[in-house]
Amino acid sequence: MLCATVTCALLLVTQVSEAFITNTNNARKHIVQKPNIIFILADDYGFNDIGYHGTQIKTPTLDQLAEEGVKLENYYVQPRCSPTRSQLMSGRYQIHTGLQHLILWRWQRAALPLDSPTIADKLKETGYSTHMVGKWHLGFYTEALLPQNRGFDSYFGYLSCTESYYNHTIDWLDHKHRYLDLRDNNGPVYSKDGHYSTHMFTEHAENIISRHAEKSSSSPLFLYMAYEAVHSPLEVPKSYEEKYSFIKDDNRRRYAGMVDTLDEGVRNITHALKKAGMWENTIFVFSTDNGGDIKAGGNNYPLRGWKGSLFEGGIRGVGFVSGGALKTRGVVNRELIHVSDWFPTLVKGVAGGSLNGTLALDGFDQWPTITGKDVPSARSYLLHNIDISYPKRGKKMFSDTWDTRVRAAIRLGDMKLITGQPDDGSWVKPPSDESVPHGDVIHSKDQGYKNVWLFNITADPTEHYDLSEKYPHHVHHMLDMISAIDLTAVPPNYPKPDPASNPALHGGVWGPWVK
Ligand SMILES: *[C@@H]1O[C@H](CO)[C@@H](O)[C@H](O)[C@H]1NC(C)=O
Ligand SMILES: *[C@@H]1O[C@H](CO)[C@@H](O)[C@H](O)[C@H]1NC(C)=O
Ligand SMILES: *[C@@H]1O[C@H](CO)[C@@H](O)[C@H](O)[C@H]1NC(C)=O
Ligand SMILES: *[C@@H]1O[C@H](CO)[C@@H](O)[C@H](O)[C@H]1NC(C)=O
Repeated sequence: MLCATVTCALLLVTQVSEAFITNTNNARKHIVQKPNIIFILADDYGFNDIGYHGTQIKTPTLDQLAEEGVKLENYYVQPRCSPTRSQLMSGRYQIHTGLQHLILWRWQRAALPLDSPTIADKLKETGYSTHMVGKWHLGFYTEALLPQNRGFDSYFGYLSCTESYYNHTIDWLDHKHRYLDLRDNNGPVYSKDGHYSTHMFTEHAENIISRHAEKSSSSPLFLYMAYEAVHSPLEVPKSYEEKYSFIKDDNRRRYAGMVDTLDEGVRNITHALKKAGMWENTIFVFSTDNGGDIKAGGNNYPLRGWKGSLFEGGIRGVGFVSGGALKTRGVVNRELIHVSDWFPTLVKGVAGGSLNGTLALDGFDQWPTITGKDVPSARSYLLHNIDISYPKRGKKMFSDTWDTRVRAAIRLGDMKLITGQPDDGSWVKPPSDESVPHGDVIHSKDQGYKNVWLFNITADPTEHYDLSEKYPHHVHHMLDMISAIDLTAVPPNYPKPDPASNPALHGGVWGPWVK
């Protein structure tokens, strides 16, 4: 626009400065507003069961989100539910929280200790509204241990695991009596009988998102969405299962339907975020909690072993980062990343918060690795676990260092060392599609007393070639590392069942029983 008059020139100046002010405000708003963080944790979701790894089960939503973001292809979780959740919430290894043995049972007086803040505590401290939907599984014998008292503004979900997807009950020690395990901040929720959990949790998350947007509060949202899917019991609405009628194996077909529901739930959550105008400022993380359980429809082929195992099928996880606020797109990340890393990665890397006030963290801030180009992992090694309470196996193989009868595993660069009893190391193909007959298992040839394995995971991710005899110096060095790390361990906290936990004694619902 050419200005011939003084008035016109003044007008132009005003327009320019208004634009300048608006831009500055936008920029300031942009700096102040931290990204929303949506963390979706799937349960017992196998390595071979996401569309972009497998061929049998279709997951269009997850595939697209991963395609638009960063696929984590050297990503590790723990072999079971509570252990992975404990490390996600605390950023600390199980050997430092007393949770190194198996899982937390609903009748045990044990829990993720209160001595260090959770990821929700820290995100709340840095200004987030924090909400949790779904499965907790980190102990609940006192009120102080409930999620709403561990950093979450609101909680809606299951305290334990393996609840009925429809009536939300789970059994007592006698395996006869079943009791409700569904609550929110105010106590038990009785009104959801018959509401399938994947739908129920998804709808709850959608409500949290729309309410958050309506408040137009300046606080960012942290939503921890821990689906029950796709853990057993294998329960699924018929319409989802029918899409997989070509799978003849009952467990696998139901499981496939459950994955389909999960994928749809994630789609609905992303739609809710988009509708609320929040997607562009969201970091979206998806992870499994452990490998698939082959006895409950899951599959990890071509990896070795399954849920519970220290072979890769138990611990190498499906995971990716996506969301409108992620600038890195269409990338496959092959750096070593672990579930304990989310604590510093999300609190510091994404939210810009401080890591003060925690006990020593075992996780590393991996945000530079996830968002950068060719930025190496912040970790050089990864302790998978040390479990001195697990049944010992074989004879001690080295006299001067770690007792190789004890269950443990560590990763150092390319190499992984396993000792003791790692659980079944078979390779299992998905049952019953056209080409693979039901029950196609390639059994491990390892004898029952073998207790040391060394693999080059980079060259041999399916763990076919044990190198322990070829490289004894690697074995020795890594055994020494386990011994040294073990000096920092606290004793496992795995108490006997507490009869006082019986829901029959307190209102017929699962919940805290110690004052
Ligand atoms: C709840 O569902 C489970 C199956 O998951 C079933 O065994 C149990 O009988 C059901 N309980 C009630 C009260 O309907
Ligand atoms: C997703 O949303 C559609 C449309 O509202 C609904 O029919 C479906 O049940 C929802 N699925 C899940 C898993 O919540
Ligand atoms: C951590 O530092 C922040 C300020 O940087 C402070 O508000 C908070 O109270 C500190 N937390 C602890 C546990 O020291
Ligand atoms: C492990 O395999 C990788 C990839 O093939 C290779 O670069 C590396 O040298 C191997 N490490 C050892 C110790 O053999």
